[in-house]
Amino acid sequence: MKLENFKGIVTGGASGMGRHFSLALARAGATVVAADMNDEGLNSLVAEAAGLPGKVFVHKADVSNEAEVVGLVEKAWELTGGLNGLVNNAGITRDGLLCRPDKETGEVKTMTLKAWQQVLDVNLTGVFLCTREFSSRVIKHKTAPAVIVNISSISRYGNMGQGNYSAAKAAVAADTEVWGKELARFGIRTGCVAPGFTETPMTAQMRPEMLEMMKKQIPLGRAATPDEQFQGVKFIIECDFFTGRTIDIDGGMRL
Ligand SMILES: NC(=O)c1ccc[n+]([C@@H]2O[C@H](COP(=O)([O-])OP(=O)(O)OC[C@H]3O[C@@H](n4cnc5c(N)ncnc54)[C@H](O)[C@@H]3O)[C@@H](O)[C@H]2O)c1
Repeated sequence: MKLENFKGIVTGGASGMGRHFSLALARAGATVVAADMNDEGLNSLVAEAAGLPGKVFVHKADVSNEAEVVGLVEKAWELTGGLNGLVNNAGITRDGLLCRPDKETGEVKTMTLKAWQQVLDVNLTGVFLCTREFSSRVIKHKTAPAVIVNISSISRYGNMGQGNYSAAKAAVAADTEVWGKELARFGIRTGCVAPGFTETPMTAQMRPEMLEMMKKQIPLGRAATPDEQFQGVKFIIECDFFTGRTIDIDGGMRL
């Protein structure tokens, strides 16, 4: 699919990578509906996208809420005149070890069910809901060829302190394969980008010493830019023979 023909939703479009993907797609002439819960970020995105060759619409929605996702896909369909693309990018972290004994008291602190559930709700159920609503409409209205790009993470291999996040991101890569097989006969391709450490507001929250420690583990010696992750998204959209696979873009961190 040519980028200029992409008419799709980008979830988590108000910030970081989703914002960058929305703008890069619009720069290439695509029509994007950026969905997010962050009103302020969405409004400033509209202003930033003004004058680009493509178009960026915005819609407030929580991807973990079934009714809101149904409303998002309905609205995005109306705005674009029929969707053929989806980038499942919205994500959160709530890091913590499964069990951590307090050095002084010996009390064993554990990951809360809330932290587990929130991450699974947004990072996995959100992807399921958006993909289901998008695909069922594409099939019903026969708007294929269509493409779904999921954003996983290099944490899908298992990262200490991210039991919730790693589980969700591994499942996203697995379902990219499942849905790649299930949806091919309807003309819908899937693909997944698993970013390594990337400069966004999500990683800007980390302590400076943690940032330095992370960079030391990356053979290429630095974090990725959002545009380097966009190269993967672009490839998946453009390569009509690609489906079901995950591309790790991690500067060699998992080699
Ligand atoms: N930054 C990294 O190093 C890195 C590495 C690997 C994977 N990722 C993944 O890349 C994606 C983008 O991350 P980022 O670094 O740009 O983060 P970010 O925090 O800058 O942006 C995430 C966006 O998702 C939105 N969001 C959160 N919960 C939502 C919900 N329930 N409904 C709708 N929108 C919601 C936020 O409001 C925010 O705008 C995420 O899936 C993240 O897990 C990031």
